[in-house]
Amino acid sequence: MDVLGFCTQTRSMEYMTPKPVYDNIVLIGFMGSGKTSVGKALKRQLYKKFVDVDTIIEAEENASVSDIFQNKGEEYFRSLEQKCIHHLMQSTGQIISTGGGLPIYSSLSKKSLIVYINADFDVILNRLPTKERDKRPLLQNESKARALFEQRKHVYEELADFSVDANQSIPTFIHVIVDFVLDQRVL
Ligand code: S3P
Repeated sequence: MDVLGFCTQTRSMEYMTPKPVYDNIVLIGFMGSGKTSVGKALKRQLYKKFVDVDTIIEAEENASVSDIFQNKGEEYFRSLEQKCIHHLMQSTGQIISTGGGLPIYSSLSKKSLIVYINADFDVILNRLPTKERDKRPLLQNESKARALFEQRKHVYEELADFSVDANQSIPTFIHVIVDFVLDQRVL
């Protein structure tokens, strides 16, 4: 009798809390497009864990991304990204912010909702304070960075399940993403 009662209760609770559609939310987009700000806002609104791949790498290597690029090279950094995202994909219920090159060099799980923070190159440059530009080795030469942007944007577009116009003010487009995620009950 007790056992039966327990089972019935578990079943009805399962019914009331449907399984989330996606394992994780992954934020992609060019350097400085606002992935971290979006991630932090989603964390506050969804009460989920927020992780930033660059921050994890910096903590594990005890070095900044710039120093890793300078001392160990880009290839080494890409291998760290690959390991880190692979590890994160083993867990669920997270909001994951990726570096701009991660989706170019690493594959992302199809079980994640991939959100593209889609801002124009000039909007990004105007928005980023010098201090933030200085942290990004691949943003030091403007014409090379612009060419990189042109190459990468098609990859971001193809990967994205949801693309948000991030040329609007940051609070506005964060609101659009939060509404979408809450509406779809993705996590
Ligand atoms: C990179 C983007 C950076 C960081 C590294 C390389 C890239 O992250 O991972 O400097 O290749 O686009 P953000 O996108 O957070 O700036």
